[in-house]
Amino acid sequence: ADINLQEIHDTLISVAHEAGRMILSANPTDISQGTKLNSADIVTETDKAVEALVSSRLSKAYPSYAFIGEETYKPGMRVTSAPTFIVDPIDGTTNFVHGFPDACISLGFAVDRAPAVGVVYNPYRDLLFTAIRGKGAYQTQGAVWGLEGGQGRKSKLPLSSSPQPLRGLDSALVATEWGSSRDGVNYEVKTQVFQKLCASKESGGAMVHSLRSMGSAALNLCAVAAGQLDAYWEGGCWAWDVCAGWAILAEAGGVMAGGNPGVWDPQIDERKYLAVRGAPAGQKELVEEFWGVIGDGRME
Ligand code: IPD
Repeated sequence: ADINLQEIHDTLISVAHEAGRMILSANPTDISQGTKLNSADIVTETDKAVEALVSSRLSKAYPSYAFIGEETYKPGMRVTSAPTFIVDPIDGTTNFVHGFPDACISLGFAVDRAPAVGVVYNPYRDLLFTAIRGKGAYQTQGAVWGLEGGQGRKSKLPLSSSPQPLRGLDSALVATEWGSSRDGVNYEVKTQVFQKLCASKESGGAMVHSLRSMGSAALNLCAVAAGQLDAYWEGGCWAWDVCAGWAILAEAGGVMAGGNPGVWDPQIDERKYLAVRGAPAGQKELVEEFWGVIGDGRME
């Protein structure tokens, strides 16, 4: 049967707003005990409640489509080529818990393992990023207040490639994240990437303008899509961290590079993602330069 991406996009936006209200009214201190990797790998009762809401809405609207969500994922689950909702109920849980206002609902839809629709909503800033494959990416501010408060502040802007060429890593603002994996190979790779990106050229580094770690993979991808960041690298992302943001990035002219991004098979997926913003020139060169600087660390 035909897949109606526009209708899926509209459904995801309304689910995102509903989930956003739930997040804003939740108690961020309800950390669940003992379910994850370590004490930095946080999940709250709100993450679980939001995922339950999202999956019940989506399975009612689209009973035949698959669903993968961060909180109900079990080892062995795969993203197949079937139409699949790929959902992170709260991306930026650590920010949510600390009241740092950069957390979002990340709702992706993939067909043939490729992101086709992305909806990322930050309820704290009432900021919505959306994209449908082939139809462009948009940023909408004030959607909820505009509708419910009658403030008339709603604005919807297309996201498109920056008119500024990329001039290399030494002119770049780059996001990276620590994630929650804090030992072994993964921790070493991350630490080395951060060091190499920042170090002076004389000592073999890239001397980037600076690094940012805002704490949400999806919002990082949206910031690259919006041209606010030149690049974002993270080792250790899962499909739900990147699917929605990737759809938005790609429609804004950005690219995703790295170790098998989108293969989403834990056996072969290196889970390294490098997003580079859209630009009239320098995109490919920046990707090459990045790999040259960081080498080919593989995540476990
Ligand atoms: C995490 C955030 C964080 C990133 C991690 C993600 P969560 O998602 O996006 O910035 O470093 O890799 O897992 O756990 O808050 O949904």
